[in-house]
Amino acid sequence: MYEILTKIQLAHKETLFEVHAPEVAAKARPGQFLIVIPRAGGERVPLTICDYDVERGTVSFAFHEVGKTTKELGTFEKGDCLYNVTGPLGNPSEIRNYGRVLCVGGSIMIAPLLLQSKAMKAAGNHVTTILGCRSKDFLFMADKAKACSDEVHVASDDGTVGEKGLDFLNELLKKERYDRCVVMGPVVMMKYVSEMTRPFGIPTVVTLTPIMIDGMGMCGVCRVTVGGKMLFGCVDGPEFDGHNTNFDELIKRQRTMLPEERLSSILWETSGGCDCERQ
Ligand SMILES: Cc1cc2nc3c(=O)[nH]c(=O)nc-3n(C[C@H](O)[C@H](O)[C@H](O)COP(=O)(O)OP(=O)(O)OC[C@H]3O[C@@H](n4cnc5c(N)ncnc54)[C@H](O)[C@@H]3O)c2cc1C
Ligand code: FES
Repeated sequence: MYEILTKIQLAHKETLFEVHAPEVAAKARPGQFLIVIPRAGGERVPLTICDYDVERGTVSFAFHEVGKTTKELGTFEKGDCLYNVTGPLGNPSEIRNYGRVLCVGGSIMIAPLLLQSKAMKAAGNHVTTILGCRSKDFLFMADKAKACSDEVHVASDDGTVGEKGLDFLNELLKKERYDRCVVMGPVVMMKYVSEMTRPFGIPTVVTLTPIMIDGMGMCGVCRVTVGGKMLFGCVDGPEFDGHNTNFDELIKRQRTMLPEERLSSILWETSGGCDCERQ
């Protein structure tokens, strides 16, 4: 069983778990993800690795409560055990000395982005990290960002903390040279940032989050189109070239199951957290 050793409430509906999973920790690399099943018979959710410690045999991930299974995960406490944690899955990020690297994170994906910032810094890069959030109440890990970056900027949608919106990024791109950009966050944000870096010719890597089932290349649910080619998010990614990604198709495919997901979430909430779909 996968015991939760640490539970940190990052924001209202954003939580980080550090879980005992030595086999996963031994092989984990930045950019890879896990498939977590909270309870026996439960749904599989893909979540990105945001830290690992080989000696302690732990792996960490952070999640935003958006639907039934992530809400259910939020009810787990320190000392509880998760039914299954499979991983590491997907390809690790390409961490090299590129020179000046811009790491842009939005919402819950700030947590795994900082693992990339840390690895890029350790590889000798000058790292600028941008933390994007909805408002000041949704900002977390700013101190960790400072510790693993040369420069940190904060932006919020409503301007309650840092810059208002991400438009300031354009000024930054005009002022400074960057050799690589890594973006992790909501799909619309990754699309927006990729469009900003395109005229500057900065290679831009995005983490795509299509709906997944097995996470191992078997079901085909996670199809994405990159450079006109159909690829699998799980085994070909999850990182892809942001300048060649068909984001609009990804957004459409992510919404395919929306009515069922909403119903499942409502049923779960109105039953007081009981898995009535299985009964
Ligand atoms: C490779 C990968 C890494 C991810 N990393 C993280 C992470 O680190 N932290 C985090 O909070 N979320 C992450 N996600 C998204 C996360 O998996 C979904 O939010 C989760 O599966 C939703 O499950 P649910 O039952 O709570 O909600 P659902 O009711 O299933 O869905 C609610 C919303 O989430 C979207 N969604 C549903 N299932 C998936 C899925 N399997 N993949 C992507 N989006 C989905 C739906 O389009 C819908 O808008 C990642 C997704 C992928 C594919
Ligand atoms: S999730 Fe099944 S092939 Fe990728």
